Amino acid sequence: MTYKGLRVLVTAGPTREFLDPVRFLSNPSSGKMGYAIAAEAIKRGAKVTLVTGPTALVPPRCRVICVVSASDMHRAVLKEARRADLIIMTAAVSDFTPVSFLRHKVKKKDAPLTLTLKPTKDILKELGDRKRPGQILVGFAAETKNLKMSALDKMRRKNLDAIVANRVGVKGSGFAGDRNEALLLSASGGIRRLSRMTKKAMAKEILSFLAAYSFGDEIVPSV
Ligand code: CTP
Repeated sequence: MTYKGLRVLVTAGPTREFLDPVRFLSNPSSGKMGYAIAAEAIKRGAKVTLVTGPTALVPPRCRVICVVSASDMHRAVLKEARRADLIIMTAAVSDFTPVSFLRHKVKKKDAPLTLTLKPTKDILKELGDRKRPGQILVGFAAETKNLKMSALDKMRRKNLDAIVANRVGVKGSGFAGDRNEALLLSASGGIRRLSRMTKKAMAKEILSFLAAYSFGDEIVPSV
Protein backbone atom coordinates (compact mmCIF):
# COMPACT_ATOMS: atom_id res chain seq x y z
CA MET A 1 0.00 0.00 0.00
CA THR A 2 1.25 3.50 -0.75
CA TYR A 3 -0.08 6.90 0.23
CA LYS A 4 -1.55 7.53 -3.22
CA GLY A 5 -5.33 7.76 -2.76
CA LEU A 6 -5.11 6.77 0.92
CA ARG A 7 -7.68 8.59 3.11
CA VAL A 8 -5.61 10.05 5.91
CA LEU A 9 -7.05 11.79 8.97
CA VAL A 10 -4.59 13.96 10.90
CA THR A 11 -5.29 15.87 14.12
CA ALA A 12 -3.17 18.79 15.24
CA GLY A 13 -2.75 21.57 17.75
CA PRO A 14 -4.01 22.07 21.28
CA THR A 15 -7.57 22.17 22.56
CA ARG A 16 -9.04 24.90 24.75
CA GLU A 17 -11.21 24.12 27.74
CA PHE A 18 -13.09 27.26 28.69
CA LEU A 19 -14.00 27.83 32.32
CA ASP A 20 -15.72 31.18 31.73
CA PRO A 21 -16.20 33.30 28.56
CA VAL A 22 -12.67 34.74 28.75
CA ARG A 23 -10.49 32.02 30.30
CA PHE A 24 -9.39 28.57 29.23
CA LEU A 25 -7.01 25.71 30.06
CA SER A 26 -4.72 24.68 27.24
CA ASN A 27 -1.13 23.63 26.47
CA PRO A 28 1.78 25.01 24.41
CA SER A 29 1.18 22.85 21.31
CA SER A 30 1.78 24.93 18.13
CA GLY A 31 0.26 22.43 15.69
CA LYS A 32 3.50 22.38 13.64
CA MET A 33 4.01 18.61 13.83
CA GLY A 34 0.48 17.75 12.74
CA TYR A 35 0.45 20.34 9.95
CA ALA A 36 3.81 19.03 8.68
CA ILE A 37 2.44 15.47 8.64
CA ALA A 38 -0.69 16.59 6.78
CA ALA A 39 1.43 18.49 4.22
CA GLU A 40 3.76 15.52 3.67
CA ALA A 41 0.85 13.09 3.26
CA ILE A 42 -0.68 15.44 0.63
CA LYS A 43 2.68 15.50 -1.19
CA ARG A 44 2.65 11.70 -1.26
CA GLY A 45 -0.79 11.65 -2.89
CA ALA A 46 -3.05 11.02 0.12
CA LYS A 47 -6.53 12.52 0.52
CA VAL A 48 -6.05 14.35 3.77
CA THR A 49 -8.52 15.69 6.33
CA LEU A 50 -6.99 17.84 9.05
CA VAL A 51 -8.88 18.32 12.32
CA THR A 52 -7.19 21.17 14.10
CA GLY A 53 -7.38 22.96 17.40
CA PRO A 54 -6.60 26.72 17.47
CA THR A 55 -3.16 27.48 15.96
CA ALA A 56 -1.43 30.44 14.30
CA LEU A 57 -0.51 28.38 11.21
CA VAL A 58 -1.78 28.46 7.64
CA PRO A 59 -3.17 24.98 6.97
CA PRO A 60 -2.02 22.96 3.97
CA ARG A 61 -4.41 22.63 1.02
CA CYS A 62 -6.77 19.89 2.17
CA ARG A 63 -10.10 19.49 3.94
CA VAL A 64 -9.73 21.33 7.25
CA ILE A 65 -12.07 21.07 10.24
CA CYS A 66 -11.46 23.63 12.99
CA VAL A 67 -12.35 22.71 16.55
CA VAL A 68 -11.81 24.33 19.93
CA SER A 69 -12.41 21.93 22.81
CA ALA A 70 -11.55 18.28 23.46
CA SER A 71 -15.24 17.53 23.20
CA ASP A 72 -15.45 19.22 19.72
CA MET A 73 -12.39 17.26 18.65
CA HIS A 74 -13.92 14.02 19.92
CA ARG A 75 -17.09 14.61 17.88
CA ALA A 76 -15.26 15.60 14.67
CA VAL A 77 -12.66 12.83 14.82
CA LEU A 78 -15.10 10.01 15.53
CA LYS A 79 -17.24 11.15 12.61
CA GLU A 80 -14.30 11.46 10.19
CA ALA A 81 -12.63 8.25 11.39
CA ARG A 82 -15.34 6.12 9.77
CA ARG A 83 -13.94 6.81 6.32
CA ALA A 84 -10.22 7.04 7.14
CA ASP A 85 -7.65 4.40 6.17
CA LEU A 86 -4.96 5.92 8.34
CA ILE A 87 -5.47 8.09 11.43
CA ILE A 88 -2.61 10.04 12.98
CA MET A 89 -3.52 11.63 16.33
CA THR A 90 -0.92 14.36 16.66
CA ALA A 91 -3.18 16.76 18.58
CA ALA A 92 -2.35 17.63 22.17
CA VAL A 93 -5.88 17.02 23.41
CA SER A 94 -6.49 18.30 26.91
CA ASP A 95 -6.81 15.42 29.38
CA PHE A 96 -8.94 17.56 31.73
CA THR A 97 -11.78 20.02 31.39
CA PRO A 98 -13.63 22.14 33.99
CA VAL A 99 -16.62 20.38 35.55
CA SER A 100 -18.77 23.44 34.86
CA PHE A 101 -18.65 26.40 32.48
CA LEU A 102 -19.48 29.71 34.15
CA ARG A 103 -21.65 31.82 31.83
CA HIS A 104 -20.39 35.11 33.25
CA LYS A 105 -16.81 36.26 33.67
CA VAL A 106 -15.50 35.41 37.12
CA LYS A 107 -14.69 38.59 39.05
CA LYS A 108 -11.57 39.17 41.14
CA LYS A 109 -13.76 39.70 44.17
CA ASP A 110 -14.86 36.05 43.85
CA ALA A 111 -11.37 34.89 44.89
CA PRO A 112 -10.14 32.60 46.31
CA LEU A 113 -11.43 30.16 43.70
CA THR A 114 -11.23 26.42 43.36
CA LEU A 115 -11.26 24.89 39.88
CA THR A 116 -12.68 21.38 39.68
CA LEU A 117 -11.68 19.34 36.63
CA LYS A 118 -12.96 16.12 35.12
CA PRO A 119 -11.20 13.90 32.56
CA THR A 120 -12.03 14.36 28.88
CA LYS A 121 -12.91 11.41 26.65
CA ASP A 122 -9.83 9.55 25.41
CA ILE A 123 -10.33 9.84 21.64
CA LEU A 124 -7.38 7.63 20.75
CA LYS A 125 -8.58 4.84 23.04
CA GLU A 126 -12.08 4.98 21.52
CA LEU A 127 -10.60 4.85 18.01
CA GLY A 128 -8.53 1.83 19.05
CA ASP A 129 -11.56 0.07 20.52
CA ARG A 130 -13.61 0.49 17.33
CA LYS A 131 -10.82 0.13 14.74
CA ARG A 132 -11.96 -1.39 11.44
CA PRO A 133 -9.96 -4.30 10.01
CA GLY A 134 -7.19 -2.79 7.89
CA GLN A 135 -7.49 0.67 9.43
CA ILE A 136 -4.19 2.00 10.76
CA LEU A 137 -4.12 4.01 13.97
CA VAL A 138 -1.13 6.05 15.10
CA GLY A 139 -0.79 7.88 18.41
CA PHE A 140 1.65 10.34 19.89
CA ALA A 141 3.03 10.21 23.40
CA ALA A 142 4.69 13.04 25.26
CA GLU A 143 6.77 11.58 28.05
CA THR A 144 9.27 13.00 30.48
CA LYS A 145 10.73 9.62 31.53
CA ASN A 146 10.84 5.90 30.56
CA LEU A 147 10.17 6.90 26.95
CA LYS A 148 10.25 3.44 25.34
CA MET A 149 8.40 1.51 28.05
CA SER A 150 5.70 4.14 28.45
CA ALA A 151 5.17 4.35 24.69
CA LEU A 152 5.02 0.56 24.25
CA ASP A 153 2.51 0.36 27.06
CA LYS A 154 0.39 3.16 25.52
CA MET A 155 0.49 1.46 22.09
CA ARG A 156 -0.83 -1.81 23.58
CA ARG A 157 -3.42 -0.23 25.88
CA LYS A 158 -4.91 1.83 23.05
CA ASN A 159 -4.70 -0.85 20.32
CA LEU A 160 -2.41 1.31 18.12
CA ASP A 161 -0.43 0.21 15.08
CA ALA A 162 2.36 2.67 15.79
CA ILE A 163 3.34 5.39 18.22
CA VAL A 164 5.56 8.45 18.04
CA ALA A 165 7.10 9.10 21.44
CA ASN A 166 8.48 12.55 22.15
CA ARG A 167 10.64 13.43 25.06
CA VAL A 168 9.19 16.60 26.53
CA GLY A 169 10.88 18.87 28.99
CA VAL A 170 13.98 19.03 26.70
CA LYS A 171 14.86 22.60 25.68
CA GLY A 172 14.10 23.32 21.97
CA SER A 173 12.21 20.05 21.39
CA GLY A 174 8.65 18.89 21.78
CA PHE A 175 5.59 21.04 22.07
CA ALA A 176 6.15 24.50 20.66
CA GLY A 177 9.63 24.38 19.03
CA ASP A 178 10.56 23.95 15.37
CA ARG A 179 12.53 20.82 16.05
CA ASN A 180 11.81 17.55 17.69
CA GLU A 181 13.38 14.23 18.60
CA ALA A 182 11.38 11.06 18.83
CA LEU A 183 11.25 7.31 19.09
CA LEU A 184 9.01 5.56 16.55
CA LEU A 185 7.60 2.17 17.48
CA SER A 186 5.26 -0.09 15.55
CA ALA A 187 3.09 -2.92 16.83
CA SER A 188 4.82 -5.14 14.24
CA GLY A 189 8.14 -4.63 16.07
CA GLY A 190 9.63 -1.74 14.08
CA ILE A 191 11.74 0.72 16.01
CA ARG A 192 13.45 3.88 14.85
CA ARG A 193 15.18 6.56 16.87
CA LEU A 194 15.03 10.03 15.33
CA SER A 195 17.61 12.50 16.51
CA ARG A 196 16.85 16.23 16.73
CA MET A 197 15.51 17.44 13.37
CA THR A 198 12.95 19.88 12.00
CA LYS A 199 9.32 18.89 12.28
CA LYS A 200 9.11 18.89 8.46
CA ALA A 201 11.97 16.37 8.26
CA MET A 202 10.36 14.36 11.03
CA ALA A 203 7.04 14.23 9.18
CA LYS A 204 8.85 12.55 6.24
CA GLU A 205 10.52 10.03 8.56
CA ILE A 206 7.24 9.22 10.30
CA LEU A 207 5.36 8.60 7.03
CA SER A 208 8.21 6.45 5.66
CA PHE A 209 8.30 4.46 8.89
CA LEU A 210 4.55 3.87 8.74
CA ALA A 211 4.78 2.77 5.11
CA ALA A 212 7.52 0.32 6.07
CA TYR A 213 6.13 -1.11 9.26
CA SER A 214 2.41 -0.65 9.10
CA PHE A 215 1.73 -1.03 5.38
CA GLY A 216 4.82 -3.16 4.68
CA ASP A 217 5.81 -1.88 1.22
CA GLU A 218 9.39 -0.83 1.81
CA ILE A 219 12.21 -1.78 4.11
CA VAL A 220 13.63 0.71 6.59
CA PRO A 221 16.50 -0.66 8.65
CA SER A 222 15.74 -0.54 12.35
CA VAL A 223 18.33 0.92 14.72
N1 CTP B 1 -5.36 11.87 23.14
C1 CTP B 1 -6.67 11.65 22.82
N2 CTP B 1 -7.67 12.06 23.66
C2 CTP B 1 -7.38 12.69 24.82
C3 CTP B 1 -6.03 12.90 25.18
C4 CTP B 1 -5.04 12.49 24.32
O1 CTP B 1 -6.94 11.08 21.75
N3 CTP B 1 -8.36 13.08 25.59
C5 CTP B 1 -4.32 11.38 22.23
C6 CTP B 1 -3.34 12.40 21.71
O2 CTP B 1 -3.77 12.94 20.45
C7 CTP B 1 -2.07 11.59 21.53
C8 CTP B 1 -2.17 10.60 22.67
O3 CTP B 1 -3.55 10.46 22.98
O4 CTP B 1 -2.06 10.87 20.32
C9 CTP B 1 -1.43 11.09 23.88
O5 CTP B 1 -1.79 10.33 24.91
P1 CTP B 1 -1.43 10.77 26.39
O6 CTP B 1 -2.26 11.94 26.80
O7 CTP B 1 0.06 10.87 26.49
O8 CTP B 1 -1.91 9.44 27.03
P2 CTP B 1 -2.66 9.06 28.34
O9 CTP B 1 -3.48 7.88 28.10
O10 CTP B 1 -3.36 10.26 28.87
O11 CTP B 1 -1.48 8.63 29.18
P3 CTP B 1 -0.84 9.09 30.53
O12 CTP B 1 -0.97 7.84 31.31
O13 CTP B 1 0.56 9.42 30.10
O14 CTP B 1 -1.61 10.25 31.08
